[in-house]
Amino acid sequence: METKYLNLQQDKKTSLKMAGQAIQNNGLVIFPTETVYGIGANGLNSEAVAKIFIAKGRNPNNPLILHISDFNMLDTITQNISTLEYKLMKTFWPGPFTIILPRKKIVPNNVTANLETVGVRMPNNNIALNLIKEANVPIAAPSANLSGKPSGTNIKDIFDEFNGKVDYILDNGDCLIGLESTVVRVIDNVPHILRPGKITPEQIKKIAGCVQIDKHILGKYTSNEPVASPGMKFRHYAPKTKCKLFYSNNNDSLIKTIQEFANKNGINNTLIISSKENVSKYNANTILDIGSKNNLDEISKNIFTTLRKVDKYNVNLVLIEGVKAEGLGLAIMNRLIRACEYNYIEC
Ligand code: TXA
Ligand code: MG
Repeated sequence: METKYLNLQQDKKTSLKMAGQAIQNNGLVIFPTETVYGIGANGLNSEAVAKIFIAKGRNPNNPLILHISDFNMLDTITQNISTLEYKLMKTFWPGPFTIILPRKKIVPNNVTANLETVGVRMPNNNIALNLIKEANVPIAAPSANLSGKPSGTNIKDIFDEFNGKVDYILDNGDCLIGLESTVVRVIDNVPHILRPGKITPEQIKKIAGCVQIDKHILGKYTSNEPVASPGMKFRHYAPKTKCKLFYSNNNDSLIKTIQEFANKNGINNTLIISSKENVSKYNANTILDIGSKNNLDEISKNIFTTLRKVDKYNVNLVLIEGVKAEGLGLAIMNRLIRACEYNYIEC
């Protein structure tokens, strides 16, 4: 298949028309959102949706999010919405917030992996919203990356993964937030965070009065546990090179412990992902700056691009500085812990 690459910073209107038409014709379009790029298809057509799973190599048991541009679209795909659920949507939409709701029959089974619920999000990005309007259907879209790989936050990182597999790539530069939306399900009037993101537990608690954080956000699923959000149990974000995550409240112990691991492994064989403040304090083959530890927005923006770089260096171990797991730091630690396949040391 020939993929058409369109630079949205140049010719928005006609590009969106053509891409919207491609969605209507059951094709695939890579498009920007404020969180990460999505690989989208007509969310009401099972054949179109099936193409997403093939292009990504995604497990069919992992359900997709439907992206909508207004509340009328919400009514076509969901039912029995509670007052609290509406309140959360009105507060956080458009934005990096996905809510799991009872679905209507019109939603194809392969969108929801046969679940009776569907994840819905109204993104806060004009290109995404206008693409949905042009297509005039909810757009099913997972993050634009081959399954298991770090999510795509710019086209340069993912072009080779999808060139020839999709109809259109809409390039709009770097995504603003850089990590995926917060996924929430309300159970007995309590919002449960299934995947942490830019919308923090504190912000949700302010609206709902309470919030629950799923214990699997920083911990591994054991084989027989019931799974609230299927995506959390699959291998994700991990580079090929072995990675280890470290965190300490004490910056000196953090540096000391990481340097000791580097020395033991051999500094020539080790790459360190460090906060901006600590870059000059390590001795290793390569030290990558992930952003200031006092600016979690910066780290969240850099996290996936940085993880995508590490396999390009000739090392056998990557040591990563973590952050405090609260606020946006919870989402950052969730992605890093999974990139390290739960190899985590608190020091
Ligand atoms: O920011 C985002 O959410 C991006 C952009 C493109 O919108 N999308 C994204 O999609 O991250 P994806 O497919 O990579 O992650 C969706 C997550 C998965 O962990 C999936 O298991 C969960 O949402 N999910 C989807 N539908 C669900 C459902 N009905 N019940 C529980 N979890 C669900
Ligand atoms: Mg994903």
